[in-house]
Amino acid sequence: MPKPKAFVTRLIPEAGLDMVTDFCDAEVWQDELPPPREVMLEKVRGVDGLLCLLTDTIDAEVMEAAGAGLKVISNHAVGFDNVDSVEATRRGIPVGNTPGVLTDTTADFAFALLMSIARRVVEGDRYTRAGRWKTWGPKTLLGQDVTGATLGLIGFGRIGKGMAKRASGFDMRVLYHDPFAVNDPYASEIGAQHVDMATLYAEADFISVHTPLNADTHHLLDAEAFRQTKPTATLINTARGPVVDPDALYHALTQGQLAAAALDVTEPEPIPLDSPLLTLDNLIIVPHIASASVATRNKMATMAAANLIAGLKNERLPYCANPAVYETR
Ligand code: GLV
Repeated sequence: MPKPKAFVTRLIPEAGLDMVTDFCDAEVWQDELPPPREVMLEKVRGVDGLLCLLTDTIDAEVMEAAGAGLKVISNHAVGFDNVDSVEATRRGIPVGNTPGVLTDTTADFAFALLMSIARRVVEGDRYTRAGRWKTWGPKTLLGQDVTGATLGLIGFGRIGKGMAKRASGFDMRVLYHDPFAVNDPYASEIGAQHVDMATLYAEADFISVHTPLNADTHHLLDAEAFRQTKPTATLINTARGPVVDPDALYHALTQGQLAAAALDVTEPEPIPLDSPLLTLDNLIIVPHIASASVATRNKMATMAAANLIAGLKNERLPYCANPAVYETR
């Protein structure tokens, strides 16, 4: 019997890629950059399975181009806003994602960003390399204390909770807003308090974003939000870039509405080199690497491969982002 056909849109870690190439007749896109749209539409034609990345937009057009034989879309990420999962469900196609395995790695990184921006670590490195370190200065590169500060979490899912756990080790007061976790038992366990957004903005010294991107969260942090934040507050975003309006962020950082920001994600990605944000010293931007540890990326690759293979075997995906697809069958 011929092997099922799959298109893999990038070289993922071998741990997962080997599983895919053993099971399928797989075409693997070799370039560092994502396949251009026309190439994607051509490469998916006639495939049984698609293993894609968060940089690939998988919409009705791609599903249509793949044809009726497309049995599974496996996204190598926990977030799946790049896949039109409603359309996939309508077409009876399960969508896989990789929850859980990246929670600690991402929360570690979000906390690392929080520490780095608070204590001006990246700025200090630039200062040293520029030859500006002449002596020990009583007022050189003064930052904000993390211990005892108030952390405001937007989103209290797995990664938000991971941040809360880390923050409690620093004696931080933890506030959070999440309509889906108002009375969360973990919050009571670690003393985190659910508040409305206005209270979170008014009281948080550090605001960390941990919400998925959807119609409700697109530009959630906009000009109106930054009018409510403390001028001394710092924003950390490791979720999705478009949750923060970049123009409003620039305005807030330059007009004294916000002290600093640390971004793992931007709108768009990559951030254009002529973005005014890149002129600011009170900002760290890194290239969407919060889940980028060797072990975690290996686990994500094997989960994505397992989802793909399950879908190709007509089995339920171990990690399915659109479980409703199984109700409509
Ligand atoms: C990374 O951003 C992911 O969603 O896995």
